[in-house]
Amino acid sequence: MLKGKNIILGITGSIAAYKSAELTSQLVKLGANVTAIMTKAATHFISPLTLSTLSKNKVITDLFETPLNSEVEHINLADKADILLIAPATANIIGKIAAGIADDFLTTFALACKSPILIAPAMNERMYLNPILQENIKKLKKQGVYFVEPEVGNLACGEQGIGRLADVHKIVAAIESILKPTSPLKGKKILITAGGTQEPIDPIRYIGNRSSGKMGYALAGVAKEFGAEVTLISAPTQLEPPAGVQTIFVETASQMRDEVLKAFPTVDIVISAAAVADFSPKEIKTQKIKKTTLPLVIELEKTIDILAELGQKKQVPGLKPVPDLKSVPGLKPDKILVGFAAESENLISNAKAKLKEKNLDLIVANDIKTAFGKDTTQVTIITKDGECEELPLLSKTETAREIMKKISKFLDR
Ligand code: CTP
Repeated sequence: MLKGKNIILGITGSIAAYKSAELTSQLVKLGANVTAIMTKAATHFISPLTLSTLSKNKVITDLFETPLNSEVEHINLADKADILLIAPATANIIGKIAAGIADDFLTTFALACKSPILIAPAMNERMYLNPILQENIKKLKKQGVYFVEPEVGNLACGEQGIGRLADVHKIVAAIESILKPTSPLKGKKILITAGGTQEPIDPIRYIGNRSSGKMGYALAGVAKEFGAEVTLISAPTQLEPPAGVQTIFVETASQMRDEVLKAFPTVDIVISAAAVADFSPKEIKTQKIKKTTLPLVIELEKTIDILAELGQKKQVPGLKPVPDLKSVPGLKPDKILVGFAAESENLISNAKAKLKEKNLDLIVANDIKTAFGKDTTQVTIITKDGECEELPLLSKTETAREIMKKISKFLDR
């Protein structure tokens, strides 16, 4: 199942670095395309030549090595990567990644990498159990980074304890389990909306909101990771769309509605993570409003609730499909609709009401205080069957994975 997978193997300066040779040959045997990135310290323990011979790929040893051809240039490589595996990982690399430091190729790559990261630590027991390192591991796990625990045994320093690099087979099994597409979503078409719409007042001003788009973009990245075909309809954000995701940019609620309705008939799942404006100015001034225009009144009108409209169009079991959907070629009826409820009070009851009113299968309730603009969020996932699961505070990527797992259960039925 690793056939054709692009595995980036980061190797750092631990005595266990020699095991990366066996790891590389195992992965290559399983059909993976391995590209090794070695830190400077790693090159003291194992030669780049060994790894390039085993992987049949160029080994990257330094950020400033010139010239890097476009094939191995770090952003390209990050786009291509199915997984970044760091084995062995020293306390130093774990600390640097946890702190967001990017001072060599491997750390820069880790920061640019949007694919899953798997870390296999190897070090002396006292270092491994050091609270600072454990704190760093905890922090990275919260961000969605995976770990293969080291093993107990004889350590290079002559001591006994925990810290030996996990067995190569265990590392390979961990990669397989991470890359195994959660089958129900594989090949499914998912439409995701993200960001906060902007409703123009005049040529330079608009009514907007504080949505960063991070949750929607994380969902798009994770859906791709789960093997889905993803279309992202995005209101303005500061974010880079995840690789391999078809992205359509819009500004207003009305433009978002147009694009969503176009895509809707042929998708299996819709996740409406966008903060769609509920009101827009009735009239958009063609010229800039001068500050002397006083008193200034901007009359607002309600926008159309896109998700509620989809809820009406969605086939309800036992009812005939709505005629305008029936005639569309490639129509997929029984769609799964997922909404978000951004609330500042009565979180669960308001979210449940939205789930029902908009005819959704699942709603993700979040308190605006813990979510808007942040990298982490704390949500409760409520299903139409009455299931209500409160997740802990997690990175948006990790939250997106949990949401996808819940959606997968609906597809399993
Ligand atoms: N939504 C939508 N179109 C709108 C408004 C909201 O598609 N015009 C979607 C959002 O993307 C979200 C869900 O509806 O998935 C709930 O949005 P939210 O802002 O929490 O609630 P509203 O329905 O707008 O109600 P209120 O603002 O009164 O809480």
